[in-house]
This record gives sequence, C-alpha cells and structure tokens, in this order.
Amino acid sequence: NLTGGSICPTGGFNIMAELPANINDNGGEPLPMPNTSAPVYTTLSVGMQNYTCGCDGQWAYAQGGLTYLFDISCLPQMHHKPFTSFIAAIWDSAPPTVTNQDFEALVEGINPGVGLGLHYWIPNPINASAGISAVWDFSKAERFQNDTNKANAFLVAAETGNVPDPINPVINSPWLYEPVLDVNGQPDGQLATQVYRFNSNGGQAPNTSCTPGAPTLQVKSTLDFYFYGGAWEDTIQQ
Ligand SMILES: *[C@@H]1O[C@H](CO)[C@@H](O)[C@H](O)[C@H]1NC(C)=O
Ligand SMILES: *[C@@H]1O[C@H](CO)[C@@H](O)[C@H](O)[C@H]1NC(C)=O
Ligand SMILES: *[C@@H]1O[C@H](CO)[C@@H](O)[C@H](O)[C@H]1NC(C)=O
Ligand SMILES: *[C@@H]1O[C@H](CO)[C@@H](O)[C@H](O)[C@H]1NC(C)=O
Ligand SMILES: *[C@@H]1O[C@H](CO)[C@@H](O)[C@H](O)[C@H]1NC(C)=O
Repeated sequence: NLTGGSICPTGGFNIMAELPANINDNGGEPLPMPNTSAPVYTTLSVGMQNYTCGCDGQWAYAQGGLTYLFDISCLPQMHHKPFTSFIAAIWDSAPPTVTNQDFEALVEGINPGVGLGLHYWIPNPINASAGISAVWDFSKAERFQNDTNKANAFLVAAETGNVPDPINPVINSPWLYEPVLDVNGQPDGQLATQVYRFNSNGGQAPNTSCTPGAPTLQVKSTLDFYFYGGAWEDTIQQ
C-alpha cells in the first residue's frame, strides 16, 4: 500500500517551464529532458554544501553536505522558483547559530507533514575510491509512516548532466540531471529513476584562497529537486 506520494497533484507540472531554452548552451554536460511528463515529487531543498581546501589553496573540493527536503507540490508551479528564492533569502540571513535542523523544525512546526526527508552523500557504493554519491532518503518521513514500501523510499544517484547555473554560476550551484545508480543491474533505491536539480540559490564554494588543511567550509544552499519515475509513479494525481 503506497501512501507516500506527493501531498498535492503533480500531474500538471512540467519541468520544461523551469529550464531556460538555452540551459545546455553554456558548457558542462547537457541535461537530457525527462522521459515521463510529470514529476512524482517536487521538493525544496534547504541546507549546507561542504567544501574542503585543496593542496592548491582553493575551496573547490565538494565533500557532500546535508539538506532537508520539503514537499512544494501544493504551490502552483509558477511559485516554485520565487518561493525558493524567498526561502533562500531567509536561510541566508539566519545567523550561523541557526542550524539545518533548527530550520527543519521551524518549517515542520508551522506546516506539519511537509518534511519529506534528507539529502546527503555516501561513498560511491560501486567503487569507494571513485568519490561520493548523492542520496535522497524519504523513508523516515511522516508521510511514509504507513507505507509498506518505505524501506525503499530512497535513491542513490549517478550524475550525468551538469550545467552552470544560468543566472550566477559563481555563486549558485550547477543544475544537474541525476539518474539512479545501477548496482549489480538493480537500481539503488526505488524513490525515483531520475532527479533534476535546478533553481539554485548559493551552494558554490567561494573562489577565495584558503589554507590547505583548514576545517571544512559549509556553504548555504537552497534549491529545487523534481523526481521522476520510481515505485510511487502511479500515485501521481492529475
Ligand atoms: C530515458 O531515455 C533515455 C534515452 O532514451 C534512456 O537511456 C533511459 O533509460 C530512459 N530512462 C527512463 C527512466 O526511462
Ligand atoms: C557536511 O555538512 C553537514 C551539514 O552541516 C554536516 O552535518 C556534516 O557533518 C558535514 N560533513 C562533512 C564530511 O564534513
Ligand atoms: C575506482 O575509482 C578509482 C578512482 O576514480 C579508479 O582509479 C579505479 O580504477 C576504480 N576501480 C574500479 C574497479 O573501477
Ligand atoms: C498511519 O496510520 C495510523 C493508524 O491508522 C494513523 O493514525 C496515522 O495518521 C497514519 N499516518 C499517516 C501519515 O497517514
Ligand atoms: C571570483 O569571482 C569574482 C566574481 O565573479 C571574480 O570577479 C573574480 O575574478 C574571481 N576570483 C578568482 C580568484 O577567480
């Protein structure tokens, strides 16, 4: 019994409206267009990206991070981008004593049930020397409490599309296409088969120099993910 779908209908959402027509014209690895027409989940991601200082004295080395994911399916699609920028402005202006967890607790307190889970990174499950892999995990979300498949409500991604942010690529994270990673011929998780990351606010490493060995730098990041395919695809409401 799959009870963990989006809160509101996503059948009318179309990511094409979010991607500028020239999104693949500025270098990087092009984003393919989704095979399925509607996303299963539409989420706001609020959190931190971590960077370490390389031997070259630059912060350019991504070391994962941690973000909280919130269901935004009850907002009309035209509000997804401005709502994300609005939340980014609040998150960016919160003092450093306000943690990711505080922000998540605040949002859940005001609007219970919208918290969908966590986004974090693990060592690449196929080859631990090959860096880290992104994970989205909804298995502990309140919304999935009674879902008989909740143990599989996660996904580990490969990354095949990566283009510069179209507005300010120095400050904002690249936009990504992340299909589920195959491990021994099986998808590593059933939450979705394809994820798009876009509407980035912040998240890039500063291009200032650093001292090798400096503590990990945490950079605030607020953006959107749309999830396609996966075990909950049939829960899409029109
Ligand atoms: C999407 O289409 C591409 C290209 O046809 C294909 O390689 C990929 O397997 C498809 N993905 C899904 C989830 O259907
Ligand atoms: C990355 O940042 C998150 C969020 O602040 C933190 O919980 C985590 O420990 C950091 N990871 C590393 C490897 O520094
Ligand atoms: C694992 O990744 C490392 C670093 O990219 C690479 O040198 C090595 O060949 C990979 N091993 C396998 C078995 O693919
Ligand atoms: C799960 O089931 C219990 C018992 O029927 C119910 O009280 C609870 O509200 C359900 N949780 C969700 C998130 O639907
Ligand atoms: C850092 O970014 C700023 C803003 O784009 C740019 O003017 C400056 O040249 C960059 N500095 C380095 C060291 O790349």
